[in-house]
Amino acid sequence: MMIESNFAADVHQIGADLWQRVQGQTPGIFNKDFWQGKLVDWMMQDPNFRVDLLRFVDVLPMLKTRQQVVDHVKDYLLPHKNLPGPLKAAFGAVIADPTGLGVRTLRGQVTQLGERFIIGHDAKSSVTKLKALWAQGLGFSVDLVGEATVSEVEADVYRRRYENLIDYLAAEVGKWPERQVLTQTPWGQLPRANVSVKVTALAPNLHAVNYQAGVERLYQSLRPLFLRAKEKGVFLHVDMEHYDVHELTYAVIERLLLDDELRDFPHVGVVLQAYLREAETDVERIANLSRRRDAPITVRLVKGAYWDMEVVEARQHGYSPPVWTKKSASDASFERCARMLLENYQRTPPAFASHNIRSLAYALAAARELNVPHEAVEFQMLYGMAEPLRKALASLDYRVRVYAPIGETLPGIAYQVRRLLENTANDSFLRLSYHDNADVANMLAKPIPQAPDSD
Ligand code: FAD
Ligand code: 2OP
Repeated sequence: MMIESNFAADVHQIGADLWQRVQGQTPGIFNKDFWQGKLVDWMMQDPNFRVDLLRFVDVLPMLKTRQQVVDHVKDYLLPHKNLPGPLKAAFGAVIADPTGLGVRTLRGQVTQLGERFIIGHDAKSSVTKLKALWAQGLGFSVDLVGEATVSEVEADVYRRRYENLIDYLAAEVGKWPERQVLTQTPWGQLPRANVSVKVTALAPNLHAVNYQAGVERLYQSLRPLFLRAKEKGVFLHVDMEHYDVHELTYAVIERLLLDDELRDFPHVGVVLQAYLREAETDVERIANLSRRRDAPITVRLVKGAYWDMEVVEARQHGYSPPVWTKKSASDASFERCARMLLENYQRTPPAFASHNIRSLAYALAAARELNVPHEAVEFQMLYGMAEPLRKALASLDYRVRVYAPIGETLPGIAYQVRRLLENTANDSFLRLSYHDNADVANMLAKPIPQAPDSD
């Protein structure tokens, strides 16, 4: 009992310190001085406007003519009651200005809003920003935006682009200055270059229904990438997407990481989604896999980015969602999984990927309690989000990695919409901290689901 209350005090003290360190700084997306900040602010004030604006972000790249944009604004955005003056004026200008200037301005602003989460359009033009992060003591993981490919040709193009990216980054980072905090671990030196891949970009039409074919096809795409990463000394991380490809993704990872040529490759990472009801079984599954090979597996612990989609799909098909339906249940699951990973840190070193100070403070306190070395733990944040928090953790000499997507607007739209959804959701830690000015004691409190989580 005494130990539990000491531990709780530790979580609180670490959380309060982090909270203090981020005071007075606002992540770019919540800065209301800019027009895009005003859009985000209004999304949070009016849930119906939020839905319509997200729909607009989603379809805008497909609206090719001025008239298509005018029609969309007229039908979906302008009718919202009580729009603030600057938004009303901008939407009015779209309709009134026959030169198309209003449309171009709005298109530019809305495109830039989504692209705040994208580091650049291609590897060459992104490298300056990656280098600037490195100079600030922040590592990176580059992702080439794209998902849900539908043709063999498209999937092969992605695989080749990833091969080129691995080669390009491997050559580039060798010229950068030493940053020990980003490369030292108890199990050896980490590569400077780190790449994240999405399985649905690398194999077409991946679904649970074509399970066997999907496993085979994905294996054919991923194996050469892992071998290339090993040859070039680049870290390769496999993202986790929606639940439909969850089993398939883990099955391919299991096959690859036990492959004769890969079983000793330590620079591999997988993702664990704490919002899944089966998350703890997944921790055991990955731990078991790591015991069967000759090198550790880094586990990026996230809550999960597809929550809305999982819930809607499950309801449409009349089954229970695979995810928790109380936010506090996902938060509590994150903490249970964090502890399990830390207890086994030599085999499953954790990378805590969250922008929630309570979740991170829990992980830090548990690491301290379990005597996990400082360099065994990594923190990851998304580009364009929680900039003050990543700075605070880096200033405490933790290894912090920024997940940095690269790509064009259209293939990046689904990613951008997920980020806008996540930042503006009612329960979002970032929204509660930076928009709703929620009480710090509540924000740092232990997550306890108030009612049974069943759906
Ligand atoms: P919080 O505001 O504390 O949590 C928000 C999250 O809680 C939501 O995203 C959702 O997961 C969950 N949630 C919201 N409402 C409910 C509810 N009613 N019931 C139950 N749960 C709810 N996600 C992936 O899925 N796959 C990845 O590969 C992946 N990679 C990532 C890499 C990095 C570096 C980072 C930082 C994130 C990554 N994510 C990934 C995204 C991550 O899932 C979201 O950023 C994260 O869920 C937001 O959580 P938070 O702790 O920052 O914020
Ligand atoms: C996503 O694509 C970050 O992998 C996560 O939403």
